Amino acid sequence: MAITGVMRPGHCQLRVLDLDASITFYRDVMGLQFMGRDGRDRAFFKCLDERDHHSLILRQADRAGMDFYGFKVRDAATLARLDSDLRAYGISTERIPEGDLPETGERVRFQAPTGHQFELYWRKTDVGNHLGCRNPEAIIEGRKGISPVRLDHWQIHGADLDGSRDLFCDVLGFSLVERILGEDGKQDMAVWLTCSAKAHDIAFVRDERNDTLHHASYLLETWEQVLKAADVMTVHRVSIDIGPLRHGITRGTTIYAFDPSGNRFETFCGGYDFYPDMQPTVWTWDEVGRAIFYHTRELNERFLTVVT
Ligand SMILES: [Fe+2]
Repeated sequence: MAITGVMRPGHCQLRVLDLDASITFYRDVMGLQFMGRDGRDRAFFKCLDERDHHSLILRQADRAGMDFYGFKVRDAATLARLDSDLRAYGISTERIPEGDLPETGERVRFQAPTGHQFELYWRKTDVGNHLGCRNPEAIIEGRKGISPVRLDHWQIHGADLDGSRDLFCDVLGFSLVERILGEDGKQDMAVWLTCSAKAHDIAFVRDERNDTLHHASYLLETWEQVLKAADVMTVHRVSIDIGPLRHGITRGTTIYAFDPSGNRFETFCGGYDFYPDMQPTVWTWDEVGRAIFYHTRELNERFLTVVT
């Protein structure tokens, strides 16, 4: 599939309660690369195999959660077209000037029906992954902590799931990959959407609590690295929600845990490739336990109730 529109989750701005402690956590435990901080109580990080200047922005705040979710689009013409398409669909957009985020071009900001702030952008400085693009080595040495290779996806919650699902599929070009139907067998309780060939780039869950984050997910290369991440979490006494385990949905392997501010994150591996000619996978309500937690086949209360 040629990815010509929205390409991938590119960056997100996470609220943290203690910026200095969070910088230490994301650098030494998560093993992200610290790219510096600015004069606005923000700190910037990238994952080891990412090439753009940053994918995670931490912002000092008095409550946890996510300020905004940014998708990188192919080029300037795509940004202009999607801005126009959003407004034609009835969604207000706002232009945030180049330089508001370091090393990042102009962004188009809009609010989805679930209350979340999204933005699209096309330019961010390519700082490389330390391997180069000419005769590179195959491994990055000196990895520390969990050390994910990239930001992978987000799971977010809000009431108007149908509205956000349709906006992403009808305007932004996403495909529906998997869905959980409610007890009535008709209404979507959760949907997994992709803008690429990944099993998902974003998931929406129906929840009265608008504009909430369930987790930000980081990709590891193997199941063994997910298991090693569990060891790293215990060495550093990280609060684990659940895992290591496998999902029925996407077939990914995973751990869910909390950062020092209570924001849930996921260390994830696997998931199948999706192409737009594939029909969505459907899960019925009576099998929701196996869909989410394939081995235990039942949900835990904290996973269902804690969002930021
Ligand atoms: Fe996830």
